[in-house]
Amino acid sequence: MKLAILSRAPQAYSTQRLRAAALQRGHRVKVLNTLRFAIDLTGPDPDLQYRGRQLSDYDAILPRIGNSITYFGTAVVRQFEQMDVYTPNTANGITNARDKLRANQILSRHNIGMPATAFVRDRADVRPAIERVGGAPVVIKLLEGTQGIGVILAPQVKVAEAIIETLHSTKQNVLIQRFIAESRGRDIRALVVGDRVVAAMRRVASGDEFRSNVHRGGTVEPVELDPEYELAAVRSAQIMGLKVAGVDMLEGNDGPLVMEVNSSPGLQGIETATNLDVAGAIIDYMANQVAFPEIDVRQRLTVSTGYGVAELLVHGNADLVGKPLRESGLADRDISVLTLHRGANVVPNPRGSVVLESGDRLLCFGRLEEMRSMIPERRKRRAKVRRLPKEPIPEG
Ligand SMILES: Nc1ncnc2c1ncn2[C@@H]1O[C@H](COP(=O)(O)OP(=O)(O)O)[C@@H](O)[C@H]1O
Ligand SMILES: [Mg+2]
Repeated sequence: MKLAILSRAPQAYSTQRLRAAALQRGHRVKVLNTLRFAIDLTGPDPDLQYRGRQLSDYDAILPRIGNSITYFGTAVVRQFEQMDVYTPNTANGITNARDKLRANQILSRHNIGMPATAFVRDRADVRPAIERVGGAPVVIKLLEGTQGIGVILAPQVKVAEAIIETLHSTKQNVLIQRFIAESRGRDIRALVVGDRVVAAMRRVASGDEFRSNVHRGGTVEPVELDPEYELAAVRSAQIMGLKVAGVDMLEGNDGPLVMEVNSSPGLQGIETATNLDVAGAIIDYMANQVAFPEIDVRQRLTVSTGYGVAELLVHGNADLVGKPLRESGLADRDISVLTLHRGANVVPNPRGSVVLESGDRLLCFGRLEEMRSMIPERRKRRAKVRRLPKEPIPEG
């Protein structure tokens, strides 16, 4: 394949390793400076220039987008996506993961363990939020910090309030998060490639520091992950929309607590700690997937009039519970079932013989009108445009 690594740091360990791994496998590879692209929307098709010249054809890109250039960097990645160039990490995936609040929100409906977190704006809501996550000591985080910078442990509620107020006054948004004392300055970094963890390490904070980031003096050691941790890491990366990710987890009393998902994970720490060829695993995975550039399903499927994707709940639907899928009548109504979700399990292309259970969720493609009647009351009502009251509303 012909691969472009998007990076502003050609000399960095990770870039060098990825480049070498690609060359070693007989691929063509260039390191291109993300900031030297020009997004070109002047012609009939989406296009890109690089250093002022037409960009040649690439099969795949590997984005390594730093925090300081998220907006421009993701715009470039999105442009490659429009041009059907394969990327393991989409612009959406990178954007989702970059903001710790956004990532937590997206993960929160998928049964992934996370430290209790709150996000408030008004001064009056700060103290109740701290209490809700468990009181002091409490962790305060900038939404887009990295390397441990912007992560603070406040020993008392009063101190926490003062810090949060100060940050709010400088227009910084912060997360309020339960301090997971039992993890004792240690955390797990799992490197996910595709649907598996290819390497994992434990990071241990130095001295009385609670942040275990290598940039904060943390030391690293290889670790054999429990299946529970592997699953949490892989699912988190998948839900974010990232095929290459570094998932950070605390070791909570009841299992893994995902803190963040990094879309440009550094390779030096993890390769040194584990002696594994993580760069090679990334390149091999990409070479395998290059024929399948990400398709924005919503964008592509829902442009055909009247058809769309919807989730049907089997719960309480007497026509469906206990029936095999093929007798559900969905096919007769021109509705295809793409996936069946049962608890944390997903069955892609479920067979006709699968017996539906209460609690199942079916992700379907079909005529929206057909599916509307099967969507539960509450969700249906929300979509309605309400009639204005007959009486005029008094002004002021
Ligand atoms: N809620 C928490 N409880 C205990 N330790 C935490 C908590 N949140 C973060 N830490 C520690 O601080 C480090 C940095 O936090 P993280 O959210 O990963 O931010 P960054 O993006 O700066 O790495 C973590 O690796 C972990 O060691
Ligand atoms: Mg981190």
